[in-house]
Amino acid sequence: MRRRHAASLDPHAISEFGRRLRAWYRRSARDLPWRRTRNAYRVLVSELMLQQTQVSRVIPKYHEFLRTFPSLAAVARAEPARVLEAWSGLGYYARARNLHKLARELTSDGTRSRVRLPSEPAALRDLPGIGAYTAGAVASFAYEVRAPLVDTNVARVLSRVFAPSLSPKRPRDLKRIWAIAERTLPRTGNATWTHNQALMEHGALVCTARVAHCDRCPVSSLCATHARAMTLRR
Ligand code: ADE
Repeated sequence: MRRRHAASLDPHAISEFGRRLRAWYRRSARDLPWRRTRNAYRVLVSELMLQQTQVSRVIPKYHEFLRTFPSLAAVARAEPARVLEAWSGLGYYARARNLHKLARELTSDGTRSRVRLPSEPAALRDLPGIGAYTAGAVASFAYEVRAPLVDTNVARVLSRVFAPSLSPKRPRDLKRIWAIAERTLPRTGNATWTHNQALMEHGALVCTARVAHCDRCPVSSLCATHARAMTLRR
């Protein structure tokens, strides 16, 4: 029988998963600067920086970059070289180049100063350098839109808990993991903000790539991978 992963999830397990994950987040999350803002430009800068760089290295760069470029309009007015300079040390300079392109595009080459990033994932994805993950992150973290997001960490958490047979490396499976992410979102945008941050935090602190710390996991009793491991041990 073909498994229809997202559609076959148990509604009780879904609501318990979200409830416990968000309660854990409220108790255990790190206080990170981009979690204190709903400014879409700031959220975008943080997400672009965090794509390939560790949190501890991003924090000082995030503050420094925003001091130099406090708005998208400021990025648009600058020469690309100045933006790259402010990005120095973070690597993957395509991210900075795309940010500059995006700022120019939204401000009609710097002629408009009041600009707003779109709030819907589909519109965000039309912008330079914004993929599915970043679109979901800006929509949910800046605008509290009920939008899913899946990066490597989230894919690992969701597949371990709900669908251990799926491999995030296979494109077809990754699509199914996105469907699970969508299916397991809470109802409101406000709860979605916490839910998505909690998924990221859980993947970073508990359900890590190297070790799954099931002993301190808030959702281990709902987790298919954990259940399998327990059965094998007996
Ligand atoms: N990595 C990407 N986005 C993040 C976030 N909002 N918090 C922590 N780590 C992240």
